[in-house]
Amino acid sequence: MTTFTGFDYEHRADPYPRYRALREATPLYRLPGGMALVTRYHDCSTALSETKWGRADANGFNPFAPEVPPEQLPFLFLDPPDHTRLRGLVAKAFTPRVIAGLRPLIESTVAELLDEARAAGELDLVESFAYPLPLRVICGLLGVPARDRPLFGGWSSALARGLDPGPLLSPSERDTRARAMRDGQAYFRDLLAKRRAEPADDLVSALAAVEEQGDVLTEPELLNTFALLLSGGFETTVSLIANGTLALLRNPGQLALWRDTPGLAPHAIEELARFEPSVQIAARVARGPLNLAGHAFDNGDGIVLLLASANRDPEVFEDPERLDLTRYTRPAPAHLSFAKGIHFCLGAALARLEVEIALDALVRRAPRLALAAGDLTYLPNISIRRMRALPVRLR
Ligand code: HEM
Repeated sequence: MTTFTGFDYEHRADPYPRYRALREATPLYRLPGGMALVTRYHDCSTALSETKWGRADANGFNPFAPEVPPEQLPFLFLDPPDHTRLRGLVAKAFTPRVIAGLRPLIESTVAELLDEARAAGELDLVESFAYPLPLRVICGLLGVPARDRPLFGGWSSALARGLDPGPLLSPSERDTRARAMRDGQAYFRDLLAKRRAEPADDLVSALAAVEEQGDVLTEPELLNTFALLLSGGFETTVSLIANGTLALLRNPGQLALWRDTPGLAPHAIEELARFEPSVQIAARVARGPLNLAGHAFDNGDGIVLLLASANRDPEVFEDPERLDLTRYTRPAPAHLSFAKGIHFCLGAALARLEVEIALDALVRRAPRLALAAGDLTYLPNISIRRMRALPVRLR
């Protein structure tokens, strides 16, 4: 009988051999508590694409967050028609133009952080680069003043851990998540009132003003959306910058290739996203009788899609355990790191822009980048797997 230990903390630094063993052994594994873990690409892709696999069952019950009333959930956790309406309204304000407009902020922040890092010589790349960049970008996007940024770091960490399956959280972690949600909501309620009185050039003002044929976002919907943008857009990007850098340091030939190949950056970050998915799992719920991975499911059954395993499925990807920065210079199957279907990451374009600018600058401006002595540690999070520290030398 297969026993899966890939979510145990001792394997957080490298869960991939355990994902691989499980994927080879079975397309579907019963986690303790009965939830099904889906391991192969085609099954994960099917579940993400079909809306019969939803976020709650046909009666609106969500087995992953039974204690949270639907009106407190952001649209990532909702099904059509609510999801369609909310995502449509948010997309009217969070446009490609808004994202492109963040380029100067991203470039200047990267340049500034790298100047400081090069002066320091040896440092923790998470603390000095991977973490502050997305924090400044998300705060810049939402219009949160610089002095309030430290508050966000704390809330976002609590919310990111809070995305893990409920039974894995300790009572104190659940309390911390509840407190972060309360404090974050209070902060945004205040910011929203200020922007309604005096609109600024930021997403909080734009979302407050958005309107589609008379429909608008209500105050609770706005607050849920701000929390989603913060928790979905920040820790994920920290994770890809840090894990991506580590993957490059462990593959010096690929790092040199990036440095020597103009124009490789957009393809390189696509491969890093496949190889080191920030979001390792996604959850779905059957909205009626369904079949997947050779098993029958009933309304209300929950499944966990192991995206990080799907991205290394040899049925789909050639030589999947190899980091190949040229993979996406040719036609190659899409990875599932930004999901697929109606919940495809709304911030994917922003994430790509940020990570491309950050890593391209790091690769070019720190040609002697190397691992330094010190521990490579990870946070306990399973879903958003991210490093706590990455000690490096730049000189
Ligand atoms: C490397 C960075 C990122 C990764 C890997 C990532 C990944 C994902 C994934 C996998 C989902 C779908 C989850 C599911 O279906 O269960 C998602 C949804 C979402 N992401 Fe991202 N994300 C990233 C950055 C961002 C950024 C920067 C933003 C915005 C500031 C953002 C906003 C969203 C939103 C709003 C959704 C919900 C979409 C929906 O339900 O329709 N993400 N993201």
